[in-house]
Amino acid sequence: MQVNRRIESESEMLSFGQSLSQILAMGDVVALTGDLGAGKTTLSRGIIQALCGDLDVPSPTYTIVQTYECGAFELWHCDLYRLERPDDIFELGLFDAMDDCVCLIEWPDRMGEHLLESALTIDIQFEGDGRRLTMSGNTPWQERLAHV
Ligand SMILES: Nc1ncnc2c1ncn2[C@@H]1O[C@H](COP(=O)(O)OP(=O)(O)O)[C@@H](O)[C@H]1O
Ligand SMILES: [Mg+2]
Repeated sequence: MQVNRRIESESEMLSFGQSLSQILAMGDVVALTGDLGAGKTTLSRGIIQALCGDLDVPSPTYTIVQTYECGAFELWHCDLYRLERPDDIFELGLFDAMDDCVCLIEWPDRMGEHLLESALTIDIQFEGDGRRLTMSGNTPWQERLAHV
């Protein structure tokens, strides 16, 4: 099952991130797909600022990973575009982080089959001047998404 959502603007994307942040908990993995400029980092920024405070959230394009302290848990924001091999996630520490942090992962296809089946996938497509979000995940995710 999928949940669809139309997002008109950058500010609406940030506030949708804020809503999403309310259903996230330690051990959650959110895979963000969509072309360059779709809004993966913008949505992540909305989530991170809601959870960790009004701080600067740079794109992890060059660093691959940015981590944030969010009270009870650590949040990992990853951009795997430059990951050379799926197995590199072990050295990065991302494999372990998926267990006990909240992980937001752009370009999740780069990690191949290491992406957990329990991840929530949010695909972002350009739609006119706005965006179309398609969210898919297992049954527990569908139940949680009903509160967003
Ligand atoms: N509805 C929208 N949602 C998100 N970003 C939007 C939207 N409309 C325009 N934008 C712009 O698109 C760009 C998205 O960039 P970014 O979030 O870095 O994308 P990605 O991480 O997917 O490459 C930003 O410059 C933002 O201002
Ligand atoms: Mg990005």
